[in-house]
Amino acid sequence: MKGHLSTLVLWLLLLTIQDIECADELKLVDGGSPCAGRVEVKHQDQWGTVCDDEWDMADAGVVCKQLGCGAAVSAPGEAHFGAGSGPIWLDEVACDGTESALWNCGNEVWGQSDCSHGEDAGVTCSGHIELQLVGGDSACSGRVEVRHGDTWATICDAHFDLKAASVICNGLQCGTALSIPGGAHFGEGHGPIWPEEFQCVGNESHHVYCPRKSHGSQTCSHENDASAICSRHTRFRLVNGSSECSGRVEIQVLGAWGTLCDSRWDLPDANVLCHQLDCGFAVSAPGGGYFGKGTGSVWTDTFHCKGTETHLGHCPVTALGASQCSHDNDASVICSGHSESLRLLNGESRCDGRVEISLHGVWSRVLDDQWDMDDASVVCRQLQCGAAEKAYNPPKSERGTGPVGLRRVQCAGNETHLTLCDKSTSEAAQAGIAEDVGVVCSGSRQIRLVNGAGRCAGRVEIYYNGSWGTVCDDSWDLLDSNVVCKQLGCGHAINATVSAHYGQGSGQIWLDDVNCSGNESDLWACPSRGWGQHNCRLKEDAGVLCSEFTDLRLVSDSDCAGRLEVFYNGTWGSVCSNQMSGVTAAIVCKQLNCGDGGYISGGSEYGKGPTWLDHVVCSEQHSSLWQCPSDQWNPKSCDNRAEETHISCTGKKAKPTQNPFTECPNSTRCTDQEKLRVVGGEDGCSGRVEVWYRGSWGTVCDDSWDMADANVVCKQLGCGSAVSAPGEAAFGEGTGPIWVETLNCRGRESSLWDCPAKPWGESNCGHKEDAAVNCSGLTERTDSLNSSV
Ligand SMILES: *[C@@H]1O[C@H](CO)[C@@H](O)[C@H](O)[C@H]1NC(C)=O
Ligand SMILES: *[C@@H]1O[C@H](CO)[C@@H](O)[C@H](O)[C@H]1NC(C)=O
Ligand SMILES: *[C@@H]1O[C@H](CO)[C@@H](O)[C@H](O)[C@H]1NC(C)=O
Ligand SMILES: *[C@@H]1O[C@H](CO)[C@@H](O)[C@H](O)[C@H]1NC(C)=O
Ligand SMILES: *[C@@H]1O[C@H](CO)[C@@H](O)[C@H](O)[C@H]1NC(C)=O
Ligand SMILES: *[C@@H]1O[C@H](CO)[C@@H](O)[C@H](O)[C@H]1NC(C)=O
Ligand SMILES: *[C@@H]1O[C@H](CO)[C@@H](O)[C@H](O)[C@H]1NC(C)=O
Ligand SMILES: *[C@@H]1O[C@H](CO)[C@@H](O)[C@H](O)[C@H]1NC(C)=O
Ligand SMILES: *[C@@H]1O[C@H](CO)[C@@H](O)[C@H](O)[C@H]1NC(C)=O
Repeated sequence: MKGHLSTLVLWLLLLTIQDIECADELKLVDGGSPCAGRVEVKHQDQWGTVCDDEWDMADAGVVCKQLGCGAAVSAPGEAHFGAGSGPIWLDEVACDGTESALWNCGNEVWGQSDCSHGEDAGVTCSGHIELQLVGGDSACSGRVEVRHGDTWATICDAHFDLKAASVICNGLQCGTALSIPGGAHFGEGHGPIWPEEFQCVGNESHHVYCPRKSHGSQTCSHENDASAICSRHTRFRLVNGSSECSGRVEIQVLGAWGTLCDSRWDLPDANVLCHQLDCGFAVSAPGGGYFGKGTGSVWTDTFHCKGTETHLGHCPVTALGASQCSHDNDASVICSGHSESLRLLNGESRCDGRVEISLHGVWSRVLDDQWDMDDASVVCRQLQCGAAEKAYNPPKSERGTGPVGLRRVQCAGNETHLTLCDKSTSEAAQAGIAEDVGVVCSGSRQIRLVNGAGRCAGRVEIYYNGSWGTVCDDSWDLLDSNVVCKQLGCGHAINATVSAHYGQGSGQIWLDDVNCSGNESDLWACPSRGWGQHNCRLKEDAGVLCSEFTDLRLVSDSDCAGRLEVFYNGTWGSVCSNQMSGVTAAIVCKQLNCGDGGYISGGSEYGKGPTWLDHVVCSEQHSSLWQCPSDQWNPKSCDNRAEETHISCTGKKAKPTQNPFTECPNSTRCTDQEKLRVVGGEDGCSGRVEVWYRGSWGTVCDDSWDMADANVVCKQLGCGSAVSAPGEAAFGEGTGPIWVETLNCRGRESSLWDCPAKPWGESNCGHKEDAAVNCSGLTERTDSLNSSV
C-alpha cells in the first residue's frame, strides 16, 4: 500500500525530510514510527548504527525507555529494518536494562566494530503505533486508520480532534491539519473501531508521543469514522474544460501546479481520477494538449491503474525510462459528470458487479428474484458500459448489507434509467426471497498477461462474461501478439509464445484461431472462431513477450555482485552510473533478494549490448528500480563503457535462481512437492497463502481459516509454527483463482492438501477474503508428523 509513491510525492517528502532538525542522540529509523526501526546513534555530530552482536531485549529495553516508547517488544538484528549507512558506532552492547542511555551500557568504544551494515540492530517498542489516511485524493487526506494487530481500525469522530490530527499530519510528513471531517467523510472503514483516543497537546512531534485514553464500551459505528485533511496533500484539478468534470489534468506539488504527460495516460487511469474528483466515470482520456497547453512542470510518472482504485495514489507508478514530454503532451480527461446514480461493486471493472442505486444520496441495494437480461441491459446502458453479457444473483459472500433501494423491477430493455422500469410488482410482493442482483456489461472486457513476472509478459488472459479465460495458440503469431501489447500499453510484440510457455491457465478458453491484421484496437476485434468456440486444451495457452517488459540482473560469477543489466525491448543492456547514488544500489539488491544493502563498486568487465539508461535517481521512498526517475530509454545512453554501473550487495541469494514462470518468484518461499508459498510478507515466512493447483497459482479463502490451518502452512514451509492467522487479505489481495475454502485442518497434518475442505476449485469467495499466515520463523524442515509442539 505504501510502496507506490510517485516522484511527485517523493519531491514533497524529500523537501520535508531536509527541513527536519535532528537534535536527538538516538533514534529509530525505517520502522513506520519513531518507536520502531533501525537503531541510529549520533556521535561527533554524525549519525551511525549499532551492530547486532550480543544485541538482546535488555538492550532494546534501554532504547525504548530512552525514547519514551514504553517497553521493548522485539530486538531484531541482521538489518531487519534495512541497512543503514555511515559509521557503525557501537558493537557488543551489553545493557542490563537499568541504564538511562544506550551508551551507558559498558561499551563506549565508539566506532570500533568488525561488523557490516548487514548486521544493523533494530528495535520495536510497545509504543509503536502505525497509522494511515485512506480514501482521500492523496496519502495526506482520508479516513484515519490505526494498525490493530493484523487489521486496520478506524477512529470514532467523537474521540478525535484537530490537535490529534495536526500531530498525525506532521508525523506523516503531510504538514498540518486543515480540517477533520467526521461522519465517514471519506467512506466507511471495515475493520474494528479503535478502542482508544489520542489526547495530544498539539506540540508532540509524532502521534506515538500523545497520551492515550481507553474507551471501554464502544458506542460508535463506521458511520462516525473520523478523517483528516492535511495541508500538504497532492491535489488534482481539471482546467479549461467545458464543465468542472472535464479538462487538462493538473497536479499540485508543493503549491505549484503542473501537468501530466499523456504518454501512458489511459481510460482506467482517467476513471480513477474522475471517481476521485466525484465526477462519475471517464468518457475519454485525450492527450496532446486537447484542452490547451498548461504551464509549470510536466510530470512523467506513469500510472498503471485497474480502474477500480479509489485514487491515483493507490495505483502502481513507474517513472524509469519514461518519454521526455512537453506541454504539447498534456493529458486530459472528459468525465461523465456528477450524476452517478448507479454503481457496480466487487467486479473486475466499473462495468461489472453487484448493482447499487443512489437514492436521496444513500447507496442502496437492488433486489430481484427474476432479474434478467432486459434488466441488465438497462443498467449497462445507463452506465455507458455497452451491452449486457450476463444477469446474475451474486453468491452469498458478495451480497450487500445496506438499505434496500429498489425491489423487483421489470424492464422492457429499452429504458434509459433503471428507475424508469416497471415497479408495479414490487409493491404487490414486498416480502419474499429477492436477492441482490449483478450484471456483466461488455465494457468490462479486459486483457492481462499472467505468470510472466511483469505486466508486459505472460500468458494471455481475457476477462469476458464475468470470468478470466485463456487464448489458444492455434495460428498464434506476432501480428496477434502486437495487438495484445498495444492494447496493454506495453509497446510492440517481441515474441509470440505457444504451448503454455507461461504455464497453463484455468477456466474457459475464450478465443481460438485468432487472425489479427495488426491494427485492431482490442484482441477480440480480430477474426477468430468466436467466444468460447475452440478445439484446444489448456496446454495450448498462448502467451506474449512485449517490448516494454523489463527485468534486471547482475552479470558476473556470483549472484549478488556484478554489472547491472536491465532487460528492455527484448534485449539485456547495461546502465550508466552518472548521478547514481548508493540508494539505487540498495534498491537493486533488495529487488534481487540479495539483502537490504549494497554499494556501487568498480568493475573491469564491460557489456556488449545496448546501454539502456542514464541519470537514474532513486531515493529512499522508492521500493523498486522501476519507480525511479531517469533519462529516456536509449540504446546508446553512455558516452563510454567505463560509465557502466557495477553493484555489490551486502547479502547473498537465499536460493538459486529459479525459472520464474513455473517456480517460486523471488521473495517467496516454496515447498518442493505440493506447491505452496506465502507472498507479500517480508521474511518469507509470512504473507498471503498461495497454492499451485491445475497449473496456476491461486489463493485460499478465509472462511473458517484459523490457527490450526495456519500451523499446517507454517510447518509445511519449514517456518516454525503459526503466530497468527489473519484473513481479509491482510497481506494484500491476490489474483487468479481462489482454489479452496472452508479448510478444516486439525493442525498436525503434514500438508495443506491433507486437510478436509470444500472441493478444490469450487470457491465463490472474493480476493478480499484471501487468507494469510504469520509464522514464528525459519526452522529446520520438519518432515515428520510427530515433531514436538
Ligand atoms: C506477525 O507476528 C509478529 C510477531 O508476533 C508481529 O510483530 C507482526 O506484527 C505480525 N505481522 C502481521 C502482519 O500480522
Ligand atoms: C507541550 O506543551 C506543554 C504545555 O502546553 C508543555 O508542558 C510541554 O513541555 C510541551 N512539550 C513539548 C515537546 O514542547
Ligand atoms: C483552453 O483550450 C482552448 C482549446 O480548447 C485553447 O485554445 C486555449 O488556449 C486554452 N486556454 C488555456 C488557458 O489553457
Ligand atoms: C455468459 O454466461 C452465462 C452463464 O453464466 C451464459 O448463460 C451466457 O450465454 C453467457 N453470455 C455470453 C454473451 O456469452
Ligand atoms: C420501448 O419499447 C416499447 C415497445 O417495444 C415501446 O412501446 C416504448 O415506447 C419503448 N420505450 C422507449 C423508452 O423507447
Ligand atoms: C521466444 O519464445 C520461445 C518459446 O516460445 C523461446 O524459446 C525464446 O527464447 C523466446 N525469445 C525471447 C527473446 O524471449
Ligand atoms: C487470416 O486472414 C487472412 C486475410 O486477412 C487470410 O488470408 C488467412 O487465410 C487467414 N488465416 C486463417 C488461419 O484463417
Ligand atoms: C486494418 O488494415 C487493413 C489493411 O491491412 C484494412 O483493410 C482494415 O480496414 C484495417 N482495420 C482497421 C480496424 O483499421
Ligand atoms: C526497439 O526495437 C525495435 C525493433 O524491434 C526498434 O525499432 C526500436 O527503435 C527499439 N526501441 C528502442 C527504444 O531502442
